[in-house]
Amino acid sequence: MVRELEERIAARLGVKHCVAITNGTLALEIAIRALGLSGEVIIPSWTFIATAHALHWQGITPVFADIDPTTHNLSPAAVRDMITSRTTGIIGVHLWGRPAPIEDLQAIADEHGLKLMFDAAHAFGNLYQGRSIGNFGICEVFSFHATKTFNTMEGGAVITHDDELAEKMRLMRNFGFHGNDNVIYPGTNGKMTEICAAFGLTNLESLDDIFAVNQRNYQAYARALSDVPDVRLLAHDENSSRNYQYVVLEIQEGNKASRDEIIAALHQNNVLARKYFWPGVHAMQPYRDLFPHAALLLPETVKIAEKVIVLPTGMAVDEAMIGRIAEIIRQKISGQSI
Ligand SMILES: Cc1ncc(COP(=O)(O)O)c(C=O)c1O
Repeated sequence: MVRELEERIAARLGVKHCVAITNGTLALEIAIRALGLSGEVIIPSWTFIATAHALHWQGITPVFADIDPTTHNLSPAAVRDMITSRTTGIIGVHLWGRPAPIEDLQAIADEHGLKLMFDAAHAFGNLYQGRSIGNFGICEVFSFHATKTFNTMEGGAVITHDDELAEKMRLMRNFGFHGNDNVIYPGTNGKMTEICAAFGLTNLESLDDIFAVNQRNYQAYARALSDVPDVRLLAHDENSSRNYQYVVLEIQEGNKASRDEIIAALHQNNVLARKYFWPGVHAMQPYRDLFPHAALLLPETVKIAEKVIVLPTGMAVDEAMIGRIAEIIRQKISGQSI
């Protein structure tokens, strides 16, 4: 079933290799190790902690570059500024499923002889210029965790067109075994289980329907929040988004209620909205102690981290609920008690 899932995913994405792994974090670690990254690797701080941990865990220094506040993705100019003689790679993150600035990052990588890979944990099913995410950089890493629209409960995969890299990662995920009695490589146990693969195969069958529900929910949020002042719903690009996995709202400063008060009001009403990625990876341990001044070079990340609310979506959310959620936000923003 793992093999069947790999084949089905590779065919769906139009890529040569899908290497299924236990989870997205281990998939990042295996990809990073198979690529031979070392020294420093540039990543955004505005991402899930696993992007940084996957490097730090294997003795590589994550170097945080700032983001473009409009897209929440890496700013190519900021990436350039962070390159040193120790830099060996860049990990772009397609945050909230929106493609990172793929061409600009590739140009920087080529110019400086760096390896470029992507953390595509949020972007399964999405497109960049008509091609599926999964086709870019040397490889791209998906998470199939239960929080993702396409999920295998726990799971992940590395996607690549590179035969040698795929072979190396297949060895690495299975202790380095080449045949029954022959170990030819230091490896780990990164295998996906059959039960997770079975779950993924079933999930694939209804995936496009789930995407359609998420898109409907996003559009309902856009309508319901359109006349609420001082909020910005992060737009999904119709040309690239298919999974509509995240509904991300920015609350501008200077309202009658802060972002945290709005989240508290939502929680009181049993709406499980989240901050996500707050306060930024650079401000979490061990990076806070390792790089105590990192925030000085991350002004946009610091600002965005104070503004974001991620709203509920998925099959269990309907238009009536979205109307009530928008109403709670509207009332808090205008200073009314609920
Ligand atoms: C951007 C990002 N990278 C990596 C991961 C790690 O994936 P997993 O939970 O499957 O280990 C996640 C999410 O969970 C994520 O959001």
